[in-house]
This record gives sequence, structure tokens and C-alpha cells, in this order.
Amino acid sequence: MKERNRAEARTRLERARLGGGEERIERQHSQGKLTARERLSVLLDEGSFHEMDALVEHRCRDFGMEDRHVPGDGVITGWGEVNGRRIFVFSQDFTVEGGSLSATNAAKVCKVMDMALKAGAPVVGLNDSGGARIQEGVASLGGYADIFLRNTLASGVVPQISAILGPCAGGAVYSPAITDFVFMVEGTSYMFVTGPSVVKTVTHEEVTQEDLGGALTHNSKSGVAHFMCKNDRTCLEEIRTLLSYLPANNLETPPYVPTDDPVDRADAELRAVIPDEREKPYDMREVLRRVVDQDSLFEVAAHGAMNIITAFARLGGQPVGIVANQPAVLAGCLDIAASTKAARFVRFLDCFNLPIVTFVDVPGFLPGTDQEWNGIIRHGAKLLYAYCEATVPKLTVITRKAYGGAYDVMSSKHIRSDLNFAWPSAEIAVMGAKGAVEIIFRREIAASEDPVACAATRTEEYEELFANPFIAAERGYVDAVIEEPETRARLIEGLRLLAGKRDHNPAKKHGNIPL
Ligand code: HXC
Repeated sequence: MKERNRAEARTRLERARLGGGEERIERQHSQGKLTARERLSVLLDEGSFHEMDALVEHRCRDFGMEDRHVPGDGVITGWGEVNGRRIFVFSQDFTVEGGSLSATNAAKVCKVMDMALKAGAPVVGLNDSGGARIQEGVASLGGYADIFLRNTLASGVVPQISAILGPCAGGAVYSPAITDFVFMVEGTSYMFVTGPSVVKTVTHEEVTQEDLGGALTHNSKSGVAHFMCKNDRTCLEEIRTLLSYLPANNLETPPYVPTDDPVDRADAELRAVIPDEREKPYDMREVLRRVVDQDSLFEVAAHGAMNIITAFARLGGQPVGIVANQPAVLAGCLDIAASTKAARFVRFLDCFNLPIVTFVDVPGFLPGTDQEWNGIIRHGAKLLYAYCEATVPKLTVITRKAYGGAYDVMSSKHIRSDLNFAWPSAEIAVMGAKGAVEIIFRREIAASEDPVACAATRTEEYEELFANPFIAAERGYVDAVIEEPETRARLIEGLRLLAGKRDHNPAKKHGNIPL
């Protein structure tokens, strides 16, 4: 009897490993995709995967499903390790009923999510699914809702990461959308509420899958995805990198990684990064690369709202989140896309005890009807709210412009930033000289015999008075005016100083961020 059961277990496990069979595996490979199991072997440390529920089968008896059973039912679940640290995973198997979500399939995903929450470890979902299993009807819809609820309850408790590695339609997109980070693969992954054929019927628009919901669309236009990868393998490797910056849960500190990069490394080249001409752009990434631990800059949402940079990095081995205006794009203005991108990142950092380091060069909010009518006030307020609410260590470096409301928003001292530095090139003012002079000296310029000369003189005066960090420094709005090469050492020193920071918001159910 025991021998027979042993053989039966081996047979069932073998069938589970084969998923939908050789032919469908071949089709998966021919599309440039890895199988669900191959993906897990890239994501996890070798030999670390522990599978659960490999023998679970669906219970559907309709539409011929009683004869279609694959042990595991199209999703592989369990736990494993990434760089020796535990994570929980589920990996949808497109070769089994198109990776579609059955009720039992959903129960497997919920089981690992529940365990992850109890164990305090991240959840990584590898999505490759045709959505709700059509043959199961509402049972499948209920399964999705069970997952959405768990995504929401786990939000801010354990990091949740989604990789989209195939088509994801309907309900299949909402679980990833609630998670913290969404990875997509160029050319093989899609996310949409309804596909191109439904779009054509309803709106008469003709659009390809790629344009409607491909990796570029969601990374550059919609802001749904945060990473765009060349193929499955690089995607999974990038997830491993992302996890290296994150604590396992909201009660842990992020993992320290020893570095050979000296903490007091003073990069003299930083003196030359800010151009002499005030309006000339420069690449803020260069500043960041020179300041953080060597090769530690890991950008998030690099293809969308490029006027603001969000990135993980390390400073003296300590993981931090960086938010930086990018003067090379739209002069570093804050617009709707930049505000929402940065606000969500700031809130993630605050959830998971990652210090926020902000680099400021911002001429203000982007003006115009498009921005106003689409709610720049509400969206800009999200970033303000996120910074105000954050209680993790906050450090700020003003490299050049910090104008107007954007000065307040970008982690100013007034909204509980802990240490604020300004470079000698900093200009902290209500607005740029030209705009200011046009408003406050309008009558005088109009009445002048030589309006051009009059405006130039007034502009020069304004710049002399405000285009520097000293008025802010005199008032203690910046804690120190520092030489550019000192930046790294000062930030690392600040992080060490603030390692045990305690700050709390008033007790409440939750705030009401302007969504
Ligand atoms: C059951 C499904 C399925 C589904 C695919 N399959 N989607 N089975 N339920 N949702 C099966 C196919 O029948 C096929 O089985 C196998 O998976 C592979 O599918 P193909 O169509 O051959 O693959 P491909 O050509 O690559 O197209 C992939 C696809 C397409 C674009 C995902 O299958 C598709 O459009 N599927 C339906 C998408 C959809 O509308 N889902 C419901 C969304 S509504 P065989 O046996 O032939 O290999 C939803 C509501 C949830 O999710 C709402 C919660 C809020």
C-alpha cells in the first residue's frame, strides 16, 4: 500500500512538473518566454524552493473540465530564498488553461500570502494569465477578490512585487496594481482591463496589444509599471536586485551591505556639475552616481515622468530611497506625473523604514491648462502629503533652484525634514528672477524710458538678493551650506545620526491623502 502511494505521489508530482505538456512548453519557449518553473529557478537561490500544494486540483465539472486535470492547477506556489533571505512566491503557468485563475488556484495564492504576512516576508508574484477561468464563472471572480483583499491588507506590512510575464487581462491586472512594484517584459507582457477587440467594439479605436498595454505604454504613459526589462531572465534578476534594498517587513530595518567605497570620499568633480548659466540643464543622475556607494544606484520608474528621479541606493552600506528633480527634463518642473510617481515612492519608503534622501533643483510646478484641468493641485498635494506624513529619516540637498511651492514640497525643513543642506549654487526663492521682476516691477518697467535696461537692472538686483542659499541659512531653513564634494560624507554622517530616529503621527484610523 505504502509502496503504491509512493509511486502514485511520484507520478502526480511528475505530471505537476510537466504542467500543460511538452507541446505547450515548446510554444511558451518559442514566444521567448520561460516556463513558470524555469522562472522560479532564476528568481530563487539554487535549491532553495519549497513547493506547496503541488497536488491541488480544480473542482470544476462544467464545460468538460471534469476531464481536464493537471496537479497544481496552473499555479506554482511556495517559498524560497533570494541571496539567503526568505520570500514567498507564486508563479502562474500559462501552459495549464492559459494560467487562468480557478477558485482552487486562487486559494493556493491566498495561502502563500497569508503565510507571508505571518512570517513577515515579501511576496513575489509571477503573472502570466488569461484572467478569470471562464468555465468557473463567479467562483473565479471570488478568487480574485480574495487575492485583492490580501494584497490590500499586506500593503505596508510586507513588500509585494509583481512581474508581468505574459498577457494579463481583466482581474489579472488589479492584484499587481495594488502591489508595490510592477515589472514588465518588452514584447511579451501586456496589461489591460479589456483587450484590443473589446476596445474596438466599444470606442471604435484600433490599437495593438503592445500600444494598448505593453511594457513601454505602462512604463512611460500610464505609470502602472515601474520596470521595463528585455526578457524574463533580466526581469527576474532585477527583482533579486530590488529585494537587496528592502527589509523583509515593516518591523525590520533594510539590509546593510558592506562597501569598499570610503564614507568620506570627496568627489571634486561635483564642483563642476552645476553649469554657470542658471537656465542650463545638467543630468542629476551624474550627481547621484558620484554621491552614493559605487554602483548602488537602482532607478525605479526610469521611463516615466523623467523630470523626477526615484531610485534606491546605498550610502555607507545603508539602503536609502532617493527622490531627485531632473533639470535635464522639463527643467525639473513638478507636473502631475512627477508628483504622483514621487508620492507613491515616498510612501513606500516610509512604510519600510528606508530613509529618504531628496535632491532639489526645481523651478516650480508646471503651469498650463492641461495641468490645471487634470488636477495638478490635487496631484501635487499627494507629494506634499507623502513627505509631511513620512517619519523615516529625511535628508535634503538643494543643488540649485528651490522655488515657490515646490521648495516647500521637496522635503523642506518646514515639513519635518531632519537635515537640509544647500550647495553654494542653491537659489531659494519664491520664483525665478525674470518672473518675479515682471510682476513686482511691471509698472516701473512700463513707465521706464528704456524698459529693457530697467528690467535687466531689476533682475540683477533680484538675483543678487535671492539667488543664493544665505537667506534660508540665516533663518535655519537649511542646516548648513556645504561644499559639493562633502555631500557624501555629510549624508552618511546624517544617516548614522538618525539611525534611531523616533517620530510619530497622531493616532488615527488612516489619513485621507488626496487621491
Ligand atoms: C480559461 C483560458 C483563459 C481563461 C486562456 N485560456 N484564457 N481558459 N479561462 N480566461 C486557455 C485557452 O482556451 C487555451 O486553451 C490556452 O489557455 C491558451 O490560450 P490561447 O488563447 O491559445 O493563447 P494566446 O493565443 O496566447 O492568447 C492568450 C490570451 C487569450 C490573450 C490571454 O487566451 C485570451 O484572450 N484569453 C481570455 C482573456 C479574458 O478575456 N479573460 C477573462 C478576463 S475577465 P487550449 O486548451 O486551447 O490550449 C476577468 C474578470 C475578473 O478576468 C474580474 C475581477 C475584478
